[in-house]
Amino acid sequence: MAYSIRPARPEDKDAIAALNDAAFGGPEEGAIVHALRRDKDSLLSLVATGGDVIIGHIEFFCIQVDGAPMAAGLGPMSVKPSFQKQGVGASLIRHGLEALKEAGETIIFVLGHDTYYPKFGFSAATAKPFDAPWSGPHFMALRLAPGGPERGTLTYPAAFGG
Ligand SMILES: CC(C)(COP(=O)(O)OP(=O)(O)OC[C@H]1O[C@@H](n2cnc3c(N)ncnc32)[C@H](O)[C@@H]1OP(=O)(O)O)[C@@H](O)C(=O)NCCC(=O)NCCS
Repeated sequence: MAYSIRPARPEDKDAIAALNDAAFGGPEEGAIVHALRRDKDSLLSLVATGGDVIIGHIEFFCIQVDGAPMAAGLGPMSVKPSFQKQGVGASLIRHGLEALKEAGETIIFVLGHDTYYPKFGFSAATAKPFDAPWSGPHFMALRLAPGGPERGTLTYPAAFGG
């Protein structure tokens, strides 16, 4: 299937919200994407397009470590149900991680499927030394470069409910 990946544009807003609603079955994640953008907490937003249609979306945001903006977070991400399990999600993740690495990010956290994100190098062990609003096998991290924080207290953007 032919598709390409590009940064999201302001006019993609409604299509991204509709995609999140369809993939997650409700409005919660679309509202998080909207709030991240509104609060200027988004670091990077990518879409996958097939023709003119947005079939995938991934959001990356800023996380504070002990009060300093020293980490990134992944999410929400979604692929249109009829295009799932065809590599679109993997491609969005790989493009995003590469861009964040180039931008100098050292560590990225995700809260999600513990059978999915380890395929990209995320592990619960890497996230474990950090204090966060969540913990357990679904809370994972990936080091993008050496020199990042080893531990600390994470503060998520207000979009995630404080
Ligand atoms: C999760 C999601 C983004 C994955 O996107 P996708 O394009 O379907 O994933 P890919 O085709 O790139 O899958 C890559 C690999 O992960 C596997 N995979 C896909 N979805 C998975 C899931 N939910 N759990 C575990 N593994 C999954 C694929 O089989 C594939 O494995 P392989 O590399 O061994 O062949 C997509 O299924 C989705 O939008 N789901 C609903 C919303 C959601 O759950 N978002 C994530 C919240 S944490």
